[in-house]
Amino acid sequence: MAQVHLLDKLPKTRRNVCARAEAKTAERVDIASKFGEQYFDGPREVGYGGYRYDGRWIPVARDMVRHFRLKPGDRVLDVGCAKGFLVKDLMAVCPGLEAFGLDVSEYALSRCEPEVVGRLQLASAERLPFPDRSFSAVISINTLHNLERPVLLQALKEIERLAPGRAFVQVDAYHTEAQRELFLRWVLTAKFHDYPKGWLKLFEEAGYTGDWDWTVVEE
Ligand SMILES: C[S@@+](CC[C@H](N)C(=O)[O-])C[C@H]1O[C@@H](n2cnc3c(N)ncnc32)[C@H](O)[C@@H]1O
Repeated sequence: MAQVHLLDKLPKTRRNVCARAEAKTAERVDIASKFGEQYFDGPREVGYGGYRYDGRWIPVARDMVRHFRLKPGDRVLDVGCAKGFLVKDLMAVCPGLEAFGLDVSEYALSRCEPEVVGRLQLASAERLPFPDRSFSAVISINTLHNLERPVLLQALKEIERLAPGRAFVQVDAYHTEAQRELFLRWVLTAKFHDYPKGWLKLFEEAGYTGDWDWTVVEE
């Protein structure tokens, strides 16, 4: 297990932390936490401000295929797949790869890309409806921190069960007190976040042996 920067090729998004912090209310946090239309395609104050396919995941998908040495016929699962952009791009960059996704958002799944229809399902990360060792790799990007610690622990165990030592999770973290403060001003939906040390302790507790990286909020 290792820290690997698999999202390095995503365009860097500049975040207006001040605007978000000023606009943040309990009501908006509540709306965002439903992961419905407002979160994905509503105003920026409650989420993405428009979650649309633009091909940005293609270079990331290539790096994932290379990192896990995926080949046609292998099965990959994206936990927290939203509209299935990464699922689509994994299959585009490695024809014959069997990619699947799951998410708790009925809204996102119902607006998925046409190429992934029939490959995504409604489920939650702590109960993955698949047999042991049924995937060549499991990926979960910016999703697991939306779970409370005990549920997150269970989700990591589930990921490990499906693909022992062959997973990648990207989660919210911070390295300094200043980064932590910035994160707290920005965050809408995360229920668990920590310094790397806290995350690594959680990985160990869960017996998680896959790879990881941190999402650190920057202005
Ligand atoms: C920040 S979005 C990330 C979406 C996608 N992975 C990406 O990076 O573009 C978080 C996603 O996690 C999903 N999610 C939240 N709680 C979840 C859970 N318990 N199980 C599975 N997905 C969940 C949300 O619906 C949303 O699609």
